[in-house]
Amino acid sequence: MKFLLDVAVAFGLLKVFAKVTAGQCRSNKCMVGKTAIVTGGSSGIGYETAADLASRGCKVIIADKADRAVSREALIERTGNPEVIYKHINLASFKSVREFAKEIIKTEKRLDLLINNAGISGIRNKLTEDGQLKVMQVNHLGPFLLTHLLADLIIRTPMSRIVFVSSILSFTNNLKKADMLNIPLNTTLDSMYAWKEYSNSKLCAMMAANVFSEKLQEGGVMVNSAIPGLVFSSNDPILNMPNNSPLNFIINKLLYLKIVLYGKNVYEGSQTVLYCALENDLNQVSGKVFADCMSVMQPPLAQIWDFRSRIWNKSEELVKLTESEKLK
Ligand SMILES: NC(=O)c1ccc[n+]([C@@H]2O[C@H](COP(=O)([O-])OP(=O)(O)OC[C@H]3O[C@@H](n4cnc5c(N)ncnc54)[C@H](OP(=O)(O)O)[C@@H]3O)[C@@H](O)[C@H]2O)c1
Ligand SMILES: *[C@@H]1O[C@H](CO)[C@@H](O)[C@H](O)[C@H]1NC(C)=O
Ligand SMILES: *[C@@H]1O[C@H](CO)[C@@H](O)[C@H](O)[C@H]1NC(C)=O
Repeated sequence: MKFLLDVAVAFGLLKVFAKVTAGQCRSNKCMVGKTAIVTGGSSGIGYETAADLASRGCKVIIADKADRAVSREALIERTGNPEVIYKHINLASFKSVREFAKEIIKTEKRLDLLINNAGISGIRNKLTEDGQLKVMQVNHLGPFLLTHLLADLIIRTPMSRIVFVSSILSFTNNLKKADMLNIPLNTTLDSMYAWKEYSNSKLCAMMAANVFSEKLQEGGVMVNSAIPGLVFSSNDPILNMPNNSPLNFIINKLLYLKIVLYGKNVYEGSQTVLYCALENDLNQVSGKVFADCMSVMQPPLAQIWDFRSRIWNKSEELVKLTESEKLK
């Protein structure tokens, strides 16, 4: 009895600790007259991010693959801001990304914020119409192409920022060679391949964010990565992982328990993303990774210039950038 009580107290204290250390974006910035794109903005962390930006008067373009008109209307009702727009994009298709960017360039005069939030997990070794691993394309190659195509518009907008929504799982990658970007993992050799696929894609996106930060510095664009933490959303990476081995089964169950007990809700999950997008202290800060609104360490591989550069060059090749689209 005493033991059970101790356990309950310990869990309770951990919960308090989790709540106290959860970061909060305390910015009061007004966003009237500004424009933001939030990919994956029709659900989860992206939806909460879009809601916050809209409540500040920002024009918000929700870029998602399904038109969830309910979300858009709900956002307008919730924030009282009629300037919430939905535009279709499928990040798993280079053609769709190009069409989306072309239209944005045609219709928008400025782009203050690009929030690369959309992401998927748990789809194992599946290929897209472009012949790429689907997780890698949605989480890295698609946003990589999109950011290139919108770079001019973003540079033309003063004080603009780009945020890449990353994950703590970027640390558990097994990306050793740049050409592994589009080579399916060997499922016999690596029972954790579904994790690795996600981890690798998040690491690539983080490395790309670092290089974008260097290349766009002169244009005055700040580029950072935001780790939202464990968030209870429909596409929870962890809830989507396969139970393909006893070890994975146990890990998944433990993580599920952890997420139920200590997971953030989507509002809490959006705080670090918003911090990177809005905080005045970050007006001159670029190429960093934030978690709970604090600058944190990056995975060791992300800091190796040569490796980063090879991933960048390989990504340029895979998304088929023309010479003039490449960033100098
Ligand atoms: N939840 C967590 O614990 C956690 C932790 C660390 C990082 N993250 C990252 O946070 C980001 C947001 O995740 P979330 O938890 O909010 O997940 P979510 O609720 O599933 O939101 C992801 C959004 O992206 C959209 N999307 C998926 N595939 C797309 C595609 N091919 N083209 C365009 N949009 C697409 C989804 O649309 P549909 O619903 O129509 O598929 C959805 O609206 C992701 O990058 C995720 O990896 C999440
Ligand atoms: C995966 O690795 C195993 C063990 O080395 C090997 O027998 C198999 O051919 C590999 N599969 C693929 C698709 O490369
Ligand atoms: C990537 O490409 C650039 C430009 O072509 C080149 O300068 C750089 O050395 C390449 N990186 C690596 C690691 O080969």
